[in-house]
Amino acid sequence: MAAMRRVLVAAVALATASLLVPAAVAQLSPSFYGASCTSLESIVRSGMVSAVQSEPRMGASILRLFFHDCFVNGCDASVLLDDSSTLTGEKNAGPNANSLRGYEVIDAIKSRVEAACPGTVSCADILAVAARDGVNLLGGPTWAVPLGRRDARTTTQQAANANLPSPSSAIGTLISSFASKGLDSQDLVALSGGHTIGAARCASFRSRVYNDSNILAGFAQRRRQVCPAQGPNGDGNLAPLDAFSSVKFDNGYFRNLQGRFGLLHSDQELFNGGPVDSIVQRYARDGGAFAGDFVNAMIKMGNISPLTGANGEIRANCRKPN
Ligand code: HEM
Ligand SMILES: *[C@@H]1O[C@H](CO)[C@@H](O)[C@H](O)[C@H]1NC(C)=O
Repeated sequence: MAAMRRVLVAAVALATASLLVPAAVAQLSPSFYGASCTSLESIVRSGMVSAVQSEPRMGASILRLFFHDCFVNGCDASVLLDDSSTLTGEKNAGPNANSLRGYEVIDAIKSRVEAACPGTVSCADILAVAARDGVNLLGGPTWAVPLGRRDARTTTQQAANANLPSPSSAIGTLISSFASKGLDSQDLVALSGGHTIGAARCASFRSRVYNDSNILAGFAQRRRQVCPAQGPNGDGNLAPLDAFSSVKFDNGYFRNLQGRFGLLHSDQELFNGGPVDSIVQRYARDGGAFAGDFVNAMIKMGNISPLTGANGEIRANCRKPN
């Protein structure tokens, strides 16, 4: 009887532990480097200040880099690995090639962090803090970033192609893509508010401005002028994701959606008579609600399967495994 009860207790403990592991994951904490690298936050901040001073868009580019890191094998700096003879990584995957940018900014910050605290801070954590600073320097909120991630030793191009949502996605696909990462519809809408800053290439919005019907006619007309109908002509031509304030982190993106000014097909899917219209309306009305939900969703996204403890490594150079 006692033996059976012990077995039962063990089974319950095991079941409880396995339930807790995915949710409570990572033991990330804002004070992780509190003793081991006191200058981390100020080094990242000053690196981002100079990057954003020389090009405001860089705040947006680093935010996107963080999103693309977290959605592919978790927030493990896998996106920063260069292709090599032994590794075909994420940088040349469809959603990233000729598009993702800001690697040099992370390199510059990493070398200053290494000089101050050698072998201590992961590239994944540097990217998480830099993304927060990019948002804040463009006028968005700030928050304490949970830290303690370690860096992946490898990755694949295929993982990036499989995990990053396409701008031609319909709302149901966007919702399930985010759900597969533990992010709900509110997180999807709040995080899509990241498109209040930065730019997209014609290749990403061509079919939207030529073929979609839920787009303001005059706006589509203007965007066609920078985006020739036949690719690859003009594929790299840029337009702001937020037509009115692309270097200001505000809630204008949501008002654009209400006016059918979404630049990407996937943007306008969030306000097209579907299940998340009411969330768009709330954020369009209430910038504070957007900022608060964005912060919560960034922390949630930053918790996607990090490597911790003895897993992974602290890379010396963000571009290659040690
Ligand atoms: C909901 C699904 C999403 C899709 C389909 C999507 C798609 C895209 C595409 C196609 C671009 C333009 C890339 C180019 O043409 O070079 C872009 C840019 C951008 N995305 Fe997203 N995105 C999504 C979610 C997010 C999230 C969650 C964030 C961050 C929280 C984010 C932040 C950005 C930023 C800041 C840019 C501009 C980058 C720059 O100017 O360098 N996106 N996105
Ligand atoms: C628009 O749709 C038509 C018909 O499906 C297609 O042939 C054409 O390539 C599309 N144009 C763009 C720019 O996507």
